[in-house]
Amino acid sequence: MRVRILGSAAGGGFPQWNCRCPTCEAARAGARAVPRTQSSIAVRGGEGPWFLVNASPDAPQQLEALHDEAVDSVRAPPIAGVLLTDAEIDHTAGLLLLRESATPIRVYGEVGVERALTEGYPVLSILERYSGAEWRTLTPGRPTQLEGSSLTVEAFDVGGDAPRYLDGSGVLLGASGLVFRDRAGAGVVTYAPGLARLDDDVLDRFAASDLVLVDGTFWRDDDLARLGIGARSALDMGHLPLSGPGGTLQALARLERPRTVLVHINNTNPILLEDSPERDEVVRAGVEIAYDGLEVGL
Ligand code: MLT
Ligand code: MN
Ligand code: ZN
Repeated sequence: MRVRILGSAAGGGFPQWNCRCPTCEAARAGARAVPRTQSSIAVRGGEGPWFLVNASPDAPQQLEALHDEAVDSVRAPPIAGVLLTDAEIDHTAGLLLLRESATPIRVYGEVGVERALTEGYPVLSILERYSGAEWRTLTPGRPTQLEGSSLTVEAFDVGGDAPRYLDGSGVLLGASGLVFRDRAGAGVVTYAPGLARLDDDVLDRFAASDLVLVDGTFWRDDDLARLGIGARSALDMGHLPLSGPGGTLQALARLERPRTVLVHINNTNPILLEDSPERDEVVRAGVEIAYDGLEVGL
């Protein structure tokens, strides 16, 4: 299996267009921090094509990295489908930007995500007038074979809230983590860019993986309030903070088997600064910080 980090920042990217926080300013200055595009990875089995996992607003540029030199047809999509962990705008807006597809875009996700993208923010309905979309429902706990690939994917619940565009609709929708296994190769990969619960079920899944790509959105629960740019806490937004007791970092540090890499990193997170004490703490915990273009073979 091959996994490539296409975008390692959270929604808004790094730097974010309207943000003058210290980390965004460092990225703009080209010093102490490397810019990053929005949250997305690509996965490919030992047999079969690449799949996009989350379709960010940066998808068209991100997909450039996946073209295969050996393909010589004029219209050749570099991916065979899109998998979604949730229905957030930063993970789904890219679907609209794939509308040039000559064939319906195959999209895998939980049934609640399909509903959100039909009723709340009707990306799937809009696509019907363009490429069309072929929905494939993922049922939590049940591995699904990806068509044309040696990969299976299994969704599991990671908690969290429905996207804000569903506020007031009464729809309850959390995020999923995805576990990838390859019939044509070794290795278990778990991807959870949003993580609101870290109970035994989630930890057991991480412990049984070879590679864990996990929510590195916020450092503290009150990162945004400290900067004076928002009242919502990390947990309000469906993300466990990294630091402190009960934070993700302590739990990740205890895992023995997997390589652990932080993804979906918010532009305000001090771990993005290459000389920050927070980044040192992550490194000392044996955890890596994703960057765009990081590729892992298993
Ligand atoms: C999230 O990751 O929590 C969402 O993308 C936040 C948002 O876009 O509102
Ligand atoms: Mn997000
Ligand atoms: Zn910022």
